[in-house]
Amino acid sequence: MPVFPKPIHLAHQLIEKLVRSGDVAVDATLGNGHDALFLGGLVGERGRVIGFDVQSSAIESSEERMVENGISNYDFHLVGHEKMGELITQEYLPLVVVMFNLGYLPNADKSIITREMTTIPALESALGLVRVGGLVSIMCYPGHEGGDEESKAVSAWAANLAREEYRVAHYGLHNAPNNPPFLLLVEKLG
Ligand SMILES: C[S@@+](CC[C@H](N)C(=O)[O-])C[C@H]1O[C@@H](n2cnc3c(N)ncnc32)[C@H](O)[C@@H]1O
Repeated sequence: MPVFPKPIHLAHQLIEKLVRSGDVAVDATLGNGHDALFLGGLVGERGRVIGFDVQSSAIESSEERMVENGISNYDFHLVGHEKMGELITQEYLPLVVVMFNLGYLPNADKSIITREMTTIPALESALGLVRVGGLVSIMCYPGHEGGDEESKAVSAWAANLAREEYRVAHYGLHNAPNNPPFLLLVEKLG
């Protein structure tokens, strides 16, 4: 185990410390459901995982993963995460964490990617829905086509959040080749 974890592993380590049984957590980009499964294990039977993706294959493989692992407390929506403000009803608020894992679905159509014009509104919604002390975590992948523009826009958005309201951290391996992924963490202050 290296001293510095990979960015996604750091996100998991921090989220593990934050989430309690009974909490409600969101996976804003379900993909193959790895993050949703991770969140499902943390919130337990009394909690709930709410997930979004624009591809039916992502919803299907995420559901399969949850069912295979005996987790049933989830609501997955085949709709863009920019609609989360409309779809997450009052009974589930406030959220403890919203995870974004940007980019494309591995082993699928690489032209279907997250894009800043919908990612940034979704991030804004997420900040409104998380509780004080809650977290929005964002894995950015600047290395693929379209990923660099989105990563820059998301990074600039996060850097401009009001310091009195949010703490923002930026983590990544600095000497890795080819535009390596990085993690942004936004903590909502009281
Ligand atoms: C890198 S993958 C996510 C990986 C996933 N978290 C996992 O654990 O397997 C990015 C996903 O974002 C989805 N996506 C693209 N645009 C989206 C949008 N507007 N709202 C929600 N998901 C979107 C893609 O379909 C893709 O499945």
